[in-house]
Amino acid sequence: MTVVYHKTDSTFHLTNAQLSYVLAVLPNGQLGQVYFGPRIPDREHLSDLIDAPLTFDPKEPDANQMDQVRQEYPTFGTGDMRTPAFEVAQPSGSHVTNFTYQSHAITPGKPRLAGLPATYVEDDSEATTLAITLHDAVIDATLVLSYTIYEHRPVITRNARFEATTTPLTVTRAASLALDLPDQDYELMTLTGAWARERAITTRPVVPGIAAIQSLRGHSSAQFNPFMVLRRPHTTEFAGDAIGLALVYSGNFQGLVDADTMNKTRVVMGIHPDHFAWRLDVDGALQTPEVVMVYATHGLNAMSQAFHDLFAHRLARGPYRDAPRPILLNNWEATYFDFDEAKLLGIARTAKKVGVELFVLDDGWFGERHDDQRALGDWQANLAKLPGGITGLADKITELGLKFGLWFEPEMVNPDSNLFRAHPEWVLRTPDRVASVGRHQYVLDFSKPEVVDALYQQMSAILGTAKVSYVKWDMNRSLTEVFSQGGAPESQGSVYHRFILGVYALYERLIRAFPDVLFESCASGGARFDAGMLYYAPQAWASDDTDAVARQKIQYGTSLAYPLSAIGSHVSAVPNHQVGRITPLTTRANVAYFGTFGYELDLNKLSAAELAEVSRQVAFMKAHRELIQYGTFYRLLSPFDGDETAWLVVAKDQKTALLADYRTLNQPNQPVATYLHLQGLDPALNYRVNGVGSHAGAELMNAGLRIATENDQQAFDGTSGDFQSRLYELTAE
Ligand code: DGJ
Repeated sequence: MTVVYHKTDSTFHLTNAQLSYVLAVLPNGQLGQVYFGPRIPDREHLSDLIDAPLTFDPKEPDANQMDQVRQEYPTFGTGDMRTPAFEVAQPSGSHVTNFTYQSHAITPGKPRLAGLPATYVEDDSEATTLAITLHDAVIDATLVLSYTIYEHRPVITRNARFEATTTPLTVTRAASLALDLPDQDYELMTLTGAWARERAITTRPVVPGIAAIQSLRGHSSAQFNPFMVLRRPHTTEFAGDAIGLALVYSGNFQGLVDADTMNKTRVVMGIHPDHFAWRLDVDGALQTPEVVMVYATHGLNAMSQAFHDLFAHRLARGPYRDAPRPILLNNWEATYFDFDEAKLLGIARTAKKVGVELFVLDDGWFGERHDDQRALGDWQANLAKLPGGITGLADKITELGLKFGLWFEPEMVNPDSNLFRAHPEWVLRTPDRVASVGRHQYVLDFSKPEVVDALYQQMSAILGTAKVSYVKWDMNRSLTEVFSQGGAPESQGSVYHRFILGVYALYERLIRAFPDVLFESCASGGARFDAGMLYYAPQAWASDDTDAVARQKIQYGTSLAYPLSAIGSHVSAVPNHQVGRITPLTTRANVAYFGTFGYELDLNKLSAAELAEVSRQVAFMKAHRELIQYGTFYRLLSPFDGDETAWLVVAKDQKTALLADYRTLNQPNQPVATYLHLQGLDPALNYRVNGVGSHAGAELMNAGLRIATENDQQAFDGTSGDFQSRLYELTAE
């Protein structure tokens, strides 16, 4: 049993071989947080670990007490002066509630969350779920807090649900999680960025006050990823404790650390409370998204590996969850909008020759889409560019022996489009005010089922007739003037959330209708790269920055939470289109291998020697992609700390591994050699390392792999220089 209930003190102990999570019903009937950390033995009266025992008189509760009590889902307005987990506005105007324990159920397995992405189990023995029902008698409302503990993972997931009531109530704040920790000896790590430089690692100490990350853009954003780590100050990649929190959601969110002046830390994470108002009588029950909590005791790599394994195997779905991902060529940076069928087929033929498996046609194939100013929403092929339509092109690509993939941006419409001219009421906009454009486009109102349905009809008409094996689903602007035209005033506060539920609904319908299609999500690069999306699209375009140096940081930061199987990474042309840098073709591939690999350039512009190198790269990826996709990933040297980056993938059976070492700027007069300390090998096995010789796993991990540095002569000869990289293949003998 992984959830133990002690009736004597109404305490719940969720535990497996790795961690324990203990909560208890407090004397006032609310829930208190007792312990979250490495496994502790079960016993009676674990509730005596509560730091501020509550004396409770229901007629005269003490206004000062709750401010010192660690709680599970703290209430607003009755003495806890910290950030609450939720608020419910009542007809009287009051926001004060009192949800108290009513019952609980412990069940094997993990229920799905209706309409929302969530981690899952394939067999009920994988996890146990505790659902605690709380009730507020004054407003006759029910709150269910659910916790799932996985049997063999250092993972607990949580969510909350507000259920129907006889009183018209508006939930104005509903976090997915509140986590009260007993001290402040933590550092907060977050993934921050902007377009083309997504998910840089940002670290700050936890000190009294509030630190928050958020999105109010309507999507999870390039600026702040819905992911946080609280780690002990001494924690490194390889040792020490870390709590990782990932919100399985793609819309507005807030992740907040509220550190009080009593040395306690409260973390709150969920849908952003600003511009959120959910009427339980109008909008129905409110189900919050899920939060995944990982507790790692062996450093950040161990924390990331727990997320990687869970997300790759129990969040991603569909046949591509476990199948090797196709090596693709995307025409975006090759042609932008300037293409016709002959040009595409010319690139596709060369792609086939070098071994590419999937040809992806990006933006520009539909309606009058000659630039980014028109035609979004008109999802029919432009017959001047593609005389046989998508069906004809897909047939020709398929005849070449390639699979065919297609780009859509379903949530958007240009003012200059047939769809907008027919349905101006389908865009988000506030009455009597101008609507802002972004990249010349409006946002469709996906909170309206008829809009989602219309997009489904358009997309399924193509996916149902043409041989399309892959869809790149893009999203290129944030939401503004978020108002559903014609909608009731009391439902406008739920539009942001219902918008993203509409996105999920369209994904779900398409996945069910076309189960063999591989979806890749995208949002101006990586502006919606989150756990929610991975439930529908197992891979995501990580960034519009394809430069091999910039990508080291982007992919390293992304790997803090997300598996390599989720990280879309392509080799592109030089000078690089985003930063103008010229990097060797070898280094571009050496970076792109560590993700879902492909090319994004015009192969017909490469020299014969470069094409031969591309063929070797594709063959290399085919030989190693299963190791990269299914292996265990270790970050060794951080691009945020210096000029050298290194990472390693080790096969689950520890028989093979692939190490990458990147040096950004060449340095004069370097040491003759450096030593790279590997991780995760079998100490007792002997590994053959290409170009180096044979060494015991123990030696490679402890003495390190000796790496000879480039010498001055090599630099002078032009065989070395900046932006160098090397791969080392390790094979057990
Ligand atoms: C933004 C994406 O990130 C790019 O890869 C490309 O698909 C363009 N949109 C197309 O408009």
